[in-house]
Amino acid sequence: MEKTQIKTEKLTPKNLQKFFPVFEEVLKTGFPEYPKKLIDFFVFQDFSKKIFLEKIRKEDWLGLLAVIDEEIVGFLVTDKLYGGVSYCFWLGVKKEFQGQGIGSLLLKEWEEEVKKQGGHKLMLVTQHKENEKFYLKNGFKNEGFEEKSWFGLDCWKFGKVIGKPQPEVFLK
Ligand SMILES: CC(C)(COP(=O)(O)OP(=O)(O)OC[C@H]1O[C@@H](n2cnc3c(N)ncnc32)[C@H](O)[C@@H]1OP(=O)(O)O)[C@@H](O)C(=O)NCCC(=O)NCCS
Repeated sequence: MEKTQIKTEKLTPKNLQKFFPVFEEVLKTGFPEYPKKLIDFFVFQDFSKKIFLEKIRKEDWLGLLAVIDEEIVGFLVTDKLYGGVSYCFWLGVKKEFQGQGIGSLLLKEWEEEVKKQGGHKLMLVTQHKENEKFYLKNGFKNEGFEEKSWFGLDCWKFGKVIGKPQPEVFLK
C-alpha cells in the first residue's frame, strides 16, 4: 500500500475557511486545561476567523498547516518574528491523527521557516504538563515555570536555539 503523504502549506486568506473549523475542533477537544467558556472566548474573540483574516493578511501571524489528501489535520500558529525570536501560540493535531509524527513535522517546518527569516530562537509555552515529553523529544529545553500564570493556570516555557543571533534582523 502507498504511504500516506503529509504535506505542509501556509495559512492564507484562501484556505482560512477550511482551516477554521479544524482550529475550533482541536481547541474544543485537545485542551482539557481550559474551561469551555475560555475556549469560546478564544474561538469567538481573540482568535476569531475575522482576527485570523486580519493578522494573516497583514502578515502579523504565520500559520503552517499539515494536510493529508486535501484534509487539514494539524496547524501551528506563530507571531511575527521579533528580535530574532519566533513565538508559537497554537499547535494542534486532530485527535485521530495524533501520534503519527504530524506535530513534530510542524515544529520542524516552523524551524525551517524561522531560519529562512534569519531568526535564531523558537519559543512556546504549555499549560498542560503532559506535553513536556513531546517538546523535549523535539529538541526543546524546559526554560522555566510560572505559577498560576495566564487564566490562573501553571505554565511551562520551552525554547530551542536554532542559530546564531543576527542583529541585522532585530531592526526589521
Ligand atoms: C501535542 C501534539 C501537538 C503532538 O502532536 P502529535 O502529532 O500527536 O505528536 P507526534 O506524533 O509528532 O509526536 C509523538 C509524541 O507526542 C506525544 N503525544 C502524542 N500524542 C499525544 C497526546 N494526545 N497528548 C500529549 N502528547 C502526545 C508523545 O510524547 C509522543 O511520543 P511517543 O510516541 O514516544 O509516546 C498533539 O498531541 C495535540 O494536538 N494535542 C492536543 C493539543 C495540544 O496539547 N497542543 C499543544 C499545546 S502546547
